[in-house]
Amino acid sequence: MPFNMYSFPKPLTLETTSEALWKTNDSHAPGDNGSVDFGKLMDPRPRQLESHHSLDERSLNDIISSGLSSPRPPRQLETVKSSECLEALLSPSIRTSVSTPREYHAFEPHPMIADAWEALRKSVVYFREKPVGTIAALDPTEDSLNYNQVFVRDFVPSALAFLMNGEPEIVKNFLLKALRLQSIEKRIDCFTLGEGVMPASFKVLHDPVRKTDTMIADFGESAIGRVAPVDSGFWWIILLRAYTKSTGDHTLADMADCQRGMRLILTLCLADGFDTFPTLLCADGCCMVDRRMGIYGYPIEIQSLFFMALRSAKSLMKPEGEGKEFLERIDKRLHALSFHMREYFWLDHVQLNNIYRFKTEEYSHTAVNKFNVIPDSIPDWIFDFLPLKGGFFIGNVSPARMDFRWFAIGNFMAILSSLATSEQASAIMDLMEERWEELVGDMPLKVSYPAMEGHEWRIVTGCDPKNTRWSYHNAGSWPVILWMLTAACIKAGRPQIARRAIEQVETRLSKDQWPEYYDGKLGRYVGKQARKFQTWSIAGYLVAKMMLEDPSHLGMIGLEEDRKMKPQLTRSASWTA
Ligand code: GLC
Repeated sequence: MPFNMYSFPKPLTLETTSEALWKTNDSHAPGDNGSVDFGKLMDPRPRQLESHHSLDERSLNDIISSGLSSPRPPRQLETVKSSECLEALLSPSIRTSVSTPREYHAFEPHPMIADAWEALRKSVVYFREKPVGTIAALDPTEDSLNYNQVFVRDFVPSALAFLMNGEPEIVKNFLLKALRLQSIEKRIDCFTLGEGVMPASFKVLHDPVRKTDTMIADFGESAIGRVAPVDSGFWWIILLRAYTKSTGDHTLADMADCQRGMRLILTLCLADGFDTFPTLLCADGCCMVDRRMGIYGYPIEIQSLFFMALRSAKSLMKPEGEGKEFLERIDKRLHALSFHMREYFWLDHVQLNNIYRFKTEEYSHTAVNKFNVIPDSIPDWIFDFLPLKGGFFIGNVSPARMDFRWFAIGNFMAILSSLATSEQASAIMDLMEERWEELVGDMPLKVSYPAMEGHEWRIVTGCDPKNTRWSYHNAGSWPVILWMLTAACIKAGRPQIARRAIEQVETRLSKDQWPEYYDGKLGRYVGKQARKFQTWSIAGYLVAKMMLEDPSHLGMIGLEEDRKMKPQLTRSASWTA
């Protein structure tokens, strides 16, 4: 039977994976607080399919559970053997969209893979001869501005690519360097930032005369708008877990400094204050969207990363000493946060209809419209955009304000962290298929949707010429998001969606010299001010390819649903569709 007749299994769930997992690795069994140990699925050996059984006969579970635990030896992906590719195992039989292309893949690795590795290796930054990160962009034609720095968020896909390729050293060095930087005093004018804040980026300065290297970090004090990066600390914890899962090396996370670093980050976001919501209150521009875009308040990207970082910390923190108290606080917050997000951020056509019919000015505990959202504030576009099948987490929810915009990173990270229930994850995938042109377009993927224009753009962005309609953060298309889409698709059991997006990327990304972003309603034009050879566009492509080729990589970055956090909600049609 040909490989392309193999079927891709159902979404990776505890039911389908745990038995095999716990058999293969006793030392980490099952105490990972409900998070699935996808990491244990990882096979350090080049994958050899022993026989040409169809996956109708062999489940993915059989294949991945035959593996051992980490670490993986370094591999040269340029010379990957055809028999190692799992990509063709993803069956057309469970494709759900008529519009999804059905071509099958040859086993030849795409020529872009070799290009991408070459470019990624060129971007590596060294500190005292050790690799410590990757530069944001290596575009020789543009003024480098701050693109010659190692950004924490930008390094994540590079790190995953190196981990997947069995090269954990650079990731370990990066994690330790960022930790060192966290401990320095951070000031803006006369004001000192919280101890736990992680840098947005750092730069290595080489002095060729004295032969010395120095490192300078930016915690937001030189960034446009002077906003501290709330996402950096979360990405740091998430990456520490990915490193630990991938290598099986617990010594790094167990180090007193790493445990302290985690506690400092958590101190910032678990602090008691005036909050009435479990979500994290943020300034505009505090994450990947790092310019004013009206995401202040409770932006979905931060809430998803917060949730994922809490769950990652839960699996890494030692229960002794101060750790014990933090673990208790994490549990409480996770419970409240998942309820809040699933209840109030989730939107499908039933919920939209409810909001449309909301009464206002309701007092007391019986209020249905708890945040006093005025139905007249619902923008027209959402009524046409929202299909009957499908749903998503909206951009922001706060008093009398619901930002109905779609933000890709927040939604995909919600799937990966299992903030989204499996029904919600499927509904987000349905939305992707139903609104392919709008959310994916020609060059994947829109960072947000739709664009703000005219008066709204003027008020919300403060007339930002970089964030004009359908450009940059204002509904521009960012190839880096491909890796998150791919991971989310695999987790939701819909890899064919990712494959379709990857095929689109492969028509242009390398020819266009790996731009940072594309512009236009369909993302057809290389972005107005886009850097070329943007490292996370390159690494994002590699991670997407490697993950589709070997879905067990998902273990580094995916967390299984925690049954204790299952919501009692039943309101949505899209959940049961
Ligand atoms: C831009 C992006 C930001 C990214 C940085 C470096 O400022 O908005 O998210 O980290 O470029 O690539």
